[in-house]
Amino acid sequence: MQQENTDTYINSQATREWDMFWEYFRHWKSTPQPNYSLADLSKDFELLDVPELPIEPSDYIQFIQDNILPHTVNLHNTKYMGHMTAPVPEELYPIALLLLYLNQNVVKVETSQALTLLERQLIGVFHQLVFELPEAFYAKHVQNQQSCLGVGVSGGSLANLTALNCLLNSVLKPDGVFDGLAKRGLLEATAHYGFKKMVLLGSHLAHYSFQKAASVLGLGTDNFIELPSDGDGSVQLSALEHQIAQCKENNFGIVALVGVAGSTETGSIDPLVEMGKIAQKYNIPFHIDAAWGGPLLFSHSHKELLKGIAYADVVTICGHKQLYLPMGYSLCLFKDPKMALFAEFNANYQARKRSWDTGKHTIEGSRPAHALYLHAYLQLFGRRRIEANMLKCFELRDYFVNKVNQAPQLQLMQAAQTNIVVFRFVDVMASSDYSKEENDRLNGINTSIQQQIFEQGEVFVSRTTLAHTKYKPQSIVVLRAVFINPEISPKDIDYVLEEIVKIGQQINTTR
Ligand SMILES: Cc1ncc(COP(=O)(O)O)c(C=O)c1O
Repeated sequence: MQQENTDTYINSQATREWDMFWEYFRHWKSTPQPNYSLADLSKDFELLDVPELPIEPSDYIQFIQDNILPHTVNLHNTKYMGHMTAPVPEELYPIALLLLYLNQNVVKVETSQALTLLERQLIGVFHQLVFELPEAFYAKHVQNQQSCLGVGVSGGSLANLTALNCLLNSVLKPDGVFDGLAKRGLLEATAHYGFKKMVLLGSHLAHYSFQKAASVLGLGTDNFIELPSDGDGSVQLSALEHQIAQCKENNFGIVALVGVAGSTETGSIDPLVEMGKIAQKYNIPFHIDAAWGGPLLFSHSHKELLKGIAYADVVTICGHKQLYLPMGYSLCLFKDPKMALFAEFNANYQARKRSWDTGKHTIEGSRPAHALYLHAYLQLFGRRRIEANMLKCFELRDYFVNKVNQAPQLQLMQAAQTNIVVFRFVDVMASSDYSKEENDRLNGINTSIQQQIFEQGEVFVSRTTLAHTKYKPQSIVVLRAVFINPEISPKDIDYVLEEIVKIGQQINTTR
């Protein structure tokens, strides 16, 4: 039956029209972006009508060609160096279609079968990569329904939330007659353990998903205690020890120390070994957000950057960043196979105790089998090609950094630890150590440069504001180049930097 349905679809007129569209799309991939304003574009998306009768597929395709494609971000454009999103490798295209046909739901094993087991296996692969525990450990836990080495989730934000939810529940766990946080709520649980409140400790460069998590978990965003960082963006250990002492003195319960392995804004990596040792010394759970940097573990030459990651209790790794998957797949890995049990939920119809159902441990319910993308990526690429891509991206980063250092109109704002570079346009006529007023002016110019290149759509870098540069306490607007697309060439880099300087000079002379 399923075969028949599939054949009918494949042979249909609609499919032939879509085939023609794909021809068009192949051409579109290489066309530059036209100028457009989001305000104007938003007018095309105001009508709320649903057609009474179906429209022709050809008309719908026309709508996509006219209203969607020209106004999307062309990730295949090798002058796009702005965000952590890359083109999906063509090897994964057939997997997308297969997943669509199968439409498995890994929330419960009855609706996914082999794909649940494949996800468990995959989680084992990443667990081993991160924690490097003995083979016997994996033989015992990978396919053991009573163990959970991690969960697949739809993104890094959800992985971080899942991590903190489990850690909070483990800190405020059931205790004698006390039923624990999940049942009794934060107020009673905190009181039971004699804490004034619960806090998180982590770098001010931690992703804003930790703010969301602090809010969702009822901790309050003010209770994510932000630690300052050094010039290279890594957390200041003296400030960490000081804050821990303050928390103890004030009777605050610490849910977790959060380390970042590849910060969103600058790609910086926290001193994971030292943080891990401090976490152990004070018996504080340690979560590492390696959403960006985690895949560096596949590279023999770069995994050293993540030294200390095995100190973590929980780790986030994103598939849709440096593992090139389509949007929507990340992992939250638990070192202790029993950790997730602190936040386990069961139902009668699924997610029963001792079942294979992943819904016991995920915050999400229904979930696509995106694990297959990751599995396919690892199998079809192999470790060496994954590493080769990373090496290419790091080479591009080095080339970019050199170019920035050579150009008198550009200033590197931080030594790049991973493949993200923060820099800015500077006015060569100004003094080299820039006064507050000069920095204010440069902040304005760099903001305008980035707005202009976004609107023009030919080249792209992103923008952020950093509080920890050598100009602190003044915040500095910086441009941010992310090297995730290995197809970028040195020529592309030359062009992008020349454009930035050109636009910067134009803006500078008109101010
Ligand atoms: C370090 C880090 N953690 C978490 C996230 C959140 O990931 P997602 O956007 O997949 O939710 C990001 C996103 O850029 C990130 O850079």
